[in-house]
Amino acid sequence: MRAAVDAPVILEGRGLTMRFGGLVAMAEVDFTLRKGEILGIIGPNGAGKSTLLNIVTGLYRPSSGEVRLEGERINGLPAHRIVAKGIARTFQSSRLFGDLSVLDNVVIGRHVHMRCGLLDAILRRGRAEAELREAARRAAELLEAVSRTLYAQRHRPAAELPQADRRRLEIARALASEPKVLLLDEPSSGMDDADTDALMADIRAIRAARPELALMIIEHDMRLVASLPNRVLVLDYGQKLADGLYEEVRLIPRVQEAYLGRKAAQHARP
Ligand SMILES: Nc1ncnc2c1ncn2[C@@H]1O[C@H](COP(=O)(O)OP(=O)(O)OP(=O)(O)O)[C@@H](O)[C@H]1O
Ligand SMILES: [Mg+2]
Repeated sequence: MRAAVDAPVILEGRGLTMRFGGLVAMAEVDFTLRKGEILGIIGPNGAGKSTLLNIVTGLYRPSSGEVRLEGERINGLPAHRIVAKGIARTFQSSRLFGDLSVLDNVVIGRHVHMRCGLLDAILRRGRAEAELREAARRAAELLEAVSRTLYAQRHRPAAELPQADRRRLEIARALASEPKVLLLDEPSSGMDDADTDALMADIRAIRAARPELALMIIEHDMRLVASLPNRVLVLDYGQKLADGLYEEVRLIPRVQEAYLGRKAAQHARP
């Protein structure tokens, strides 16, 4: 599943720098993402991986640099406008509405395409109701396509789902906004090998059904990094150490020392 190297660039970052007081969490990072490409982002704890996603999605305003989606500058726009333009994400820690049903969590993901606001819902119930019914229908369709298990549980409160299904639900909710770019922040964290394998298969299926969708996946799980992305970007202390095919970048001494070495040392700890 290799994206054509000449596919058009859909998302790019140039000179991205993010300072928090005296801390430089990201320094002059450039990246490009092409249509249909899967870009893995790896690096040790605190490397700046989530910061990069937070900049791209408008949660953080970079101290300098710019982000362009299909050539249009998007940094500085509020986060909801960026979602509406076609960038969706999941978070490192769950942001599901645990009391709401699985289905309603996906309906919420569609809200960027719904015209009725709260006031509409109150004043023009007819139109709002029809729109909500349509959103629920589309959400159910999406759930069924993403995971039959989730679909079967669509009326259960999200909090009752096992962890792996909650992760799938977050991905389904992000897809409900019909994104061009999907960003996943450590989707397999806290999962065992079997759940991780099942999740990888689901991500592959999601991509196969949407060949144009571009993905950025932050990952700690090296198996996922080795098997899923077309290309990886390695960060360390907010700097870009390398960008290329996993088989190539893993051989670069600086990368081995900074990431693989430290990771291996962590794993070797009793
Ligand atoms: N809102 C913030 N305010 C202050 N410092 C922050 C903020 N967000 C991130 N940082 C700091 O920026 C650095 C990069 O953090 P970031 O969360 O991007 O790392 P990460 O690569 O995602 O790490 P992890 O693997 O632990 O998730 C860290 O030193 C972190 O403490
Ligand atoms: Mg992070």
